[in-house]
Amino acid sequence: LWRWSGGHGHSLGSGPAPKLSELAPQARFVQPLRLPGADGLLAEVDLKQPLRLLAQTLSVGLFPGPATSLWAYTGRVGAREVGNPLLHARRGDTVEVELDNRLAEATTIHWHGLSIDEANDGSGLHPVAPGARRSYRYRVDNRAGLYWYHAHPHGRTGVQLQRGLAGLLLVEDEEERTLRQRLGMRWGERDLPLMIADKQVGADNAIVYKDGADDWIGNRVLINWTPEPYLDVIPAWYRFRLANVANARMLRVAFVQGDQVLPMQLIGTDGGLLAQAWPVDDVFLAPAQRIDVLVDFGALAPGQRVMLRSLDYVAMENEDESGAFLPDPMADHPGATPMGAALDLMELRLIDCATERRPPARLPDLSALSKIDPLPDTADWPVRALRLRMDEAGRWFINDWNFHDSGHEPAFSVRRGSREVWEIRNSMTSMPHPIHLHGFQFRVLSRSISPPDIRGRQVAPGGLTAQDLGWNDTVVVWPGEIVRLAIDFAQPLTGTHRYMLHCHNLEHEDMGMMLTFAVTD
Ligand code: C2O
Ligand code: CU
Repeated sequence: LWRWSGGHGHSLGSGPAPKLSELAPQARFVQPLRLPGADGLLAEVDLKQPLRLLAQTLSVGLFPGPATSLWAYTGRVGAREVGNPLLHARRGDTVEVELDNRLAEATTIHWHGLSIDEANDGSGLHPVAPGARRSYRYRVDNRAGLYWYHAHPHGRTGVQLQRGLAGLLLVEDEEERTLRQRLGMRWGERDLPLMIADKQVGADNAIVYKDGADDWIGNRVLINWTPEPYLDVIPAWYRFRLANVANARMLRVAFVQGDQVLPMQLIGTDGGLLAQAWPVDDVFLAPAQRIDVLVDFGALAPGQRVMLRSLDYVAMENEDESGAFLPDPMADHPGATPMGAALDLMELRLIDCATERRPPARLPDLSALSKIDPLPDTADWPVRALRLRMDEAGRWFINDWNFHDSGHEPAFSVRRGSREVWEIRNSMTSMPHPIHLHGFQFRVLSRSISPPDIRGRQVAPGGLTAQDLGWNDTVVVWPGEIVRLAIDFAQPLTGTHRYMLHCHNLEHEDMGMMLTFAVTD
């Protein structure tokens, strides 16, 4: 049933880079990309000190004209005022963040991707009421990587993220420090976070959301809170840490120069560094997923331009087989590029760089970035079957669980320290679902339909994508696909802790495509 789109050379093998004929709609790339800084949105805050964040309305000038009212996590650090700060922590640190909810509705801070206990996980099981406070205090046990935090109140996650309640958390460890030294790329200069979202923005610059919406897709792209940004780059290698924090839009990211796709080196995924760099042309980046890539602008000349683009793909199997995904009703998304259509995200402009200041044209050896065990032999691990489906009434389910029916009651329990294979089957729905597991990073064992890259190559051995070669907390399951995950439920805790498994298409999540499971002694 499922057809891979792209049309750009299914049969090209590993030949020359394909031509990209489809042009994305014209966006204006006039605002410089916001970089991590001292104040305001994306301000950098080290979690060495306890931090207090107020969830509140924040009025910011994002677009020309009237200011935009966001819901944001704001704080004061010394003399600095920060909003949705980019947090830094080191593996092994114990961090403390207090949430003071000044919104008119309950919210939380969920620490997406971190392996922590139930109470600090920040899921909707522990909402913070309007006017109330709570402290999150936990040890960062995860590998170095780009994680993120966001609101997670049951049924309201879609609207709260669309309005702005999300930020990045960068974890560092020894391997990462070594790599950074060897790459010689300064954080904030040639090593940059790209927090990508789309928003539905009205004429008055207000962010629009419709309660009960399905697949909320935006008419504006924001990267690091900058609409359709540009970035000046020198002819050299860059490292980008991309995070898709959109509600529903899956991206297929590539760097495009003229008709050519620039090759990337994938060096990390949700849960940190890969064992070795892996060459890729394009990567599917679903909501909640992160990737760490290196890309070389070294062969380009000042004045040339590169586009960070989401390439077209078939996002939904329509009855009329047109292949395009038409959000229903499209009237909810005025001016939006449909999901799956090509969309330009950011323009990179090559600028001059004095020869003597040019960084080395070659990368260091990247064949041993990190220690990652080979895939475990799961022959005698118990298998848990999970089926993604929609009923006749249009409600989403995982097996027979819809969160609104089953609620906080765990659908099942898992013994702490046990290891299981979770087999997620998307046989009954017409669109891909990014499935996210709280509390544990997993390995992808196999997938039955592995998307080839734009050259039609199978990217990695065994049907896996390059992304599947690392640790992940969110995995895309394509229509018709069965994805098998290996999950080790070891954790340094006792007692019962409840976690979520859900679709990170936030409208699906809010409609109940989520279950609670318990980890017990
Ligand atoms: Cu990023 Cu349960 O979420
Ligand atoms: Cu979904």
